[in-house]
Amino acid sequence: MTRRATPIAVLISGRGSNFEALHQATEEGRLPARIVLVLSNVASAAGIEHARSLGLHTAVVPSRGAESRAAHEVRVREEIEQSGAEWICLAGYMRLLSEEFVAAFPNRILNIHPSLLPSFPGLDVQQAALDHGVRISGCTVHLVDAGLDSGPIVGQRAVDVRSGDDAASLARRILRQEHELYADALGRLLTEDWRIEGRRVLFGPEAGIERAD
Ligand code: GRF
Repeated sequence: MTRRATPIAVLISGRGSNFEALHQATEEGRLPARIVLVLSNVASAAGIEHARSLGLHTAVVPSRGAESRAAHEVRVREEIEQSGAEWICLAGYMRLLSEEFVAAFPNRILNIHPSLLPSFPGLDVQQAALDHGVRISGCTVHLVDAGLDSGPIVGQRAVDVRSGDDAASLARRILRQEHELYADALGRLLTEDWRIEGRRVLFGPEAGIERAD
């Protein structure tokens, strides 16, 4: 039986390299998903241009100049609902989502963050990790709640901090891991049985779920 490709929306604000990695994974058959919408809140986002060149369905919903945060979110929601997306992947989307928005897609929104959460949520995290003197950093894919980088963790990858690292070199090595992790984590959620217990995302046998097939 071939698995149905789950429709997903990818929300970006800038470069879009994680969007590209997800797209590549779908094209190469490593991720049973199809991108039905790439949405940016920034018109000049490089990722949106790339998505267009790939012939993907795109939308720009500018947050700057929007009447209110709520009004902006309503427009974003409309785009997502019209696209038929069942999962939403935040990939460098620089907006916090409201409780109402998150509640509209319960446990169906993912985010990728360039640190080992719960260390270093927020912005400029590679510099914060270096300033703190950590020896290991990395990246995290997590389900999104209304907090800042705070939802249940789906997957993580560790990256060693090297003695000569600056924020840019560390960010580059973490980004390479992000590109693999995002597709892996989403793929697990789409293909394995899982459930949430407290803050933990439990998969398959550890979740006590018997496979039906
Ligand atoms: C990535 O480091 C991601 O973890 C963070 O924002 C950055 C986006 O990069 N949330 P890109 O736009 O996917 O290249």
